[in-house]
Amino acid sequence: MCVNIIVFAPGYPWEGAIILVLSHPLSRPGRMYFFHLTTIWSDSGLRYAIISDNHANLEATLTVLDKIDEIGVDQIIHLGDVVGYNANPNECCDLIRERNIPTICGNHDAVACGLEEPWGFNPVALSAAMWTRETLREDNLEWLRGLPDNQKFDKFLGVHGSPTNRNSYLFTWEDILPHVNYVDEQECQWCFFGHTHNPCIFSKDGVYSLDEDDQFNLGTEKMFFINPGSVGQPRDGDPRAAFGILDTETTTFTQVRINYPVKQAADKVTKAGLPTFLAERLFLGR
Ligand SMILES: [Fe+2]
Ligand SMILES: [Fe+2]
Repeated sequence: MCVNIIVFAPGYPWEGAIILVLSHPLSRPGRMYFFHLTTIWSDSGLRYAIISDNHANLEATLTVLDKIDEIGVDQIIHLGDVVGYNANPNECCDLIRERNIPTICGNHDAVACGLEEPWGFNPVALSAAMWTRETLREDNLEWLRGLPDNQKFDKFLGVHGSPTNRNSYLFTWEDILPHVNYVDEQECQWCFFGHTHNPCIFSKDGVYSLDEDDQFNLGTEKMFFINPGSVGQPRDGDPRAAFGILDTETTTFTQVRINYPVKQAADKVTKAGLPTFLAERLFLGR
C-alpha cells in the first residue's frame, strides 16, 4: 500500500488543498481510492477563537471551550493570564496545554512561575499570586516559563498588555498610539491584546464596544487594536465570560458572551482560602 499526494496548483477550485490518494494492492489498476482530504493552507482565510484572561477559572474556561467547539474554528489563541485570582490554575493550564493552544505569557503567569516578582500588585492580587505559585505543579510552572511575550499569527499580532510590555494597560487610543509603529513593523494589520479585561475595539477613528454576537467589519485598510474581553474575570459589568471570533476571510470580529456556573467557580475561590472579594466580583463582572 502506498500513499500518493496531489497538490492542486493555483487556478484549481481546491487551490492549496492536498489530497492523499490510497493505492491498495486489492484496488483495481488505474483506479484511485480517496480516503482522506485535508486542507493545510488556503487563501480563503481562517477562523480563530481569541481567548484571554482565564485566570484559573475552570468553569468559565470549560464553558468557553465547549462553545468554541460548537461554533467550529480553525485555531484557538490565548492572550495570557491563564492563572491568577481563581482556584483552578493547574486544571486550566492542563486544558490549554492538552489542546496545544498557542498562548502568550501574561503578567499573572510571569509572577506565578517566578519570571517576575509581583511589584505593583494590590494586596488581593498579591495574595492570589502567591497562592497560585505554591499550588502550581512543576510541569505547569515550566510550561508558563516557556511562553512567548507576544506572537505573530497570519496577519495579526497577539500580545498580553501592550506589544512591548505585558504589564502595560491599553485603555485609550492615546495608550495605543506609541505601539502603532511596532505593529506596523511586524507587518500586522490587527493587534489582539488582553490584560484590561474590557472587550473593546480601537482605531484612530474611534472606540467601539460590541454587544453580544455583534459582528464588526475590520476591513483591510485600517489598523485595529482589539481586546476580546476576559474569560475568567470579566470587568465590564457583565459577569458572562467573554471571547471573540476572528474570521480572516470576511475580515470580521464577532464578540461572544456566555453564561457559565459562576457560583461553582466562586465557591471554589472561598473554599481555597483566597480573598472573598475575588469570589464576589465574579457575580458582578467587576
Ligand atoms: Fe488578567
Ligand atoms: Fe494581565
